[in-house]
Amino acid sequence: GNARPVEFPIPANVHAEKVVSVRHYTDRLFSFRITRPQSFRFRSGEFVMIGLPNAEKPVFRAYSVASPAWDDELEFYSIKVPDGPLTQHLQKIQPGDTVLMRPKPTGTLVLDALTPGKRLWMISTGTGLAPFASLMRDPETYEKFEDVILTHTCRDVGELTYGEELSKALVEDPLIGELVDGRFRHYATTTRETSAKMGRITDLIESGKLFEDLGVPAFDPAVDRVMICGSMDMIRDVKALVESFDLTEGANNKPAEFVVERAFVG
Ligand code: A2P
Repeated sequence: GNARPVEFPIPANVHAEKVVSVRHYTDRLFSFRITRPQSFRFRSGEFVMIGLPNAEKPVFRAYSVASPAWDDELEFYSIKVPDGPLTQHLQKIQPGDTVLMRPKPTGTLVLDALTPGKRLWMISTGTGLAPFASLMRDPETYEKFEDVILTHTCRDVGELTYGEELSKALVEDPLIGELVDGRFRHYATTTRETSAKMGRITDLIESGKLFEDLGVPAFDPAVDRVMICGSMDMIRDVKALVESFDLTEGANNKPAEFVVERAFVG
């Protein structure tokens, strides 16, 4: 029937927020928005721990906040894993349901972890797009960088929808659209379904096709700053390539030329 799941008491020291909206993109991907606690502050690119009030000891998983820091709601982008401890339930949420959130955000994909540069690369695969969905909508990104390039690679065309809709909305946005105009580019590729641009981002970097397509020189530590988010394997391989161009890895307490974070995997 339509009975909602039983809700257990809210554990101490977590926010209980309401689901505002949910969108399903494919049988593997969805996004949802929740109310934002008044006291909650975060830097674009950070993640929080999310859970559901469906057990006495709820399962929490890391989720990058996909909305920008100025937004009065919080948006998340998630994979659906049929037997995933959290996502098997989370994929069924509806407006009005309760989502739990631990209060402390954290993460390395933040502007503060990069030294000043001219061009920002946000390189993502799959749900690794999420932290960049936040950063691409943050005016500070465009105050710090002249040129912003988001790459997103997925298996199929349907998995690119969320990112493509965000990019389109960004450029058309009445507030930030003008700031972004001509300085933000979205480079999307698929690997398993035919589309306009195809190939793993690693292959496109190695062959130089990425730089050729965008009309920019290859990575240069004097100019380029890189953020990487995807699977463990993707991070390892992209990091090795970026390091081959002599960029060094940064952290919150030691800003440098690139930063990495593993995407939530279910
Ligand atoms: P491929 O289809 O060739 O595996 P997933 O959904 O499995 O996380 O994959 C998302 C995208 O990341 C897919 O297009 C996939 O390509 C690509 N990918 C997987 N592993 C790597 C890697 N080591 N380096 C670069 N891209 C990768």
